[in-house]
Amino acid sequence: MKKSFLFLMMFLVVALAGNFNQDFDITWGDGRAKILENGQLLTLSLDKTSGSGFRSKNQYLFGKIDLKIKLVPGNSAGTVTTYYLSSIGSSHDEIDFEFLGNLSGDPYILHTNVFTQGKGNREQQFYLWFDPTKDFHTYSILWNPQSIIFSVDGTPIRQFKNLEASGIPYPKNQPMWIYSSLWNADDWATRGGLVKTDWSKAPFIASYRNYNAQACVWSSTSSSSCSSNNSTENSWLSESLDSTGQSRIKWVQSNYMIYNYCTDTKRFPQGFPPECSLN
Ligand SMILES: *[C@@H]1O[C@H](CO)[C@@H](O)[C@H](O)[C@H]1NC(C)=O
Ligand SMILES: *[C@@H]1O[C@H](CO)[C@@H](O)[C@H](O)[C@H]1NC(C)=O
Ligand SMILES: *[C@@H]1O[C@H](CO)[C@@H](O)[C@H](O)[C@H]1NC(C)=O
Repeated sequence: MKKSFLFLMMFLVVALAGNFNQDFDITWGDGRAKILENGQLLTLSLDKTSGSGFRSKNQYLFGKIDLKIKLVPGNSAGTVTTYYLSSIGSSHDEIDFEFLGNLSGDPYILHTNVFTQGKGNREQQFYLWFDPTKDFHTYSILWNPQSIIFSVDGTPIRQFKNLEASGIPYPKNQPMWIYSSLWNADDWATRGGLVKTDWSKAPFIASYRNYNAQACVWSSTSSSSCSSNNSTENSWLSESLDSTGQSRIKWVQSNYMIYNYCTDTKRFPQGFPPECSLN
């Protein structure tokens, strides 16, 4: 506890609301990514030549990030829309949402993963309980010193707890950027690569709105504390799943989860990773 407080002293907490111009840079795509409506809307586009992507201007160490996304409509097979937090380097930490497209009317897959100190292999995949291409839906990452919680429209779908006490590394020392991209992955994305991208349907477009974050901005020089005096503003830093959250996760996992590394006996014949019995 003392130790994490020391870390927190180095950061400045900010509440960011909604302006893509202020908080993000378009990082690639040669004009295919666009910030519109005075920073309220961002669109990514993919065609045969290139995809596109953006990244936060700041790095964060802990945060609660909400992003509304409307995924590529129609035939999106072969496309992948990503939204993730990541640090850099070979022992990086990463928290991933990836949306794997599909033929019209067939379900997207929401793919999730958590990397700690360069090691991932913690995939869980879900179908969604709505059509993610019809409207904007909120995809959230809560990352605080106790746990990482992935949520969809406020419903938690996955939790990765801080289990350092059991010897499992937890992301808490490396600041991360927020990234998003739209790219072609038809070698693996749709039905394991069986369905290819139909380029006659290009450009493929995903849209983003209502970016909202409470987060600790990384700054090597700032002496500001991460915590403000306002306990409401800081509540996310100690937020955890309550009993309603626990039962929502169970509901999602029993009805919509289609892959869980923690039950993949073929992949882990010698026994599951240690966090599987503890999360
Ligand atoms: C696409 O649809 C097929 C058939 O319903 C399904 O098996 C698959 O999981 C869906 N999603 C992806 C990304 O392949
Ligand atoms: C918090 O409150 C204390 C005492 O009321 C005050 O001295 C301090 O400046 C406040 N800090 C912030 C970040 O508002
Ligand atoms: C604390 O923060 C919340 C949310 O930003 C705000 O609504 C409230 O007015 C703040 N309270 C004080 C005492 O500043």
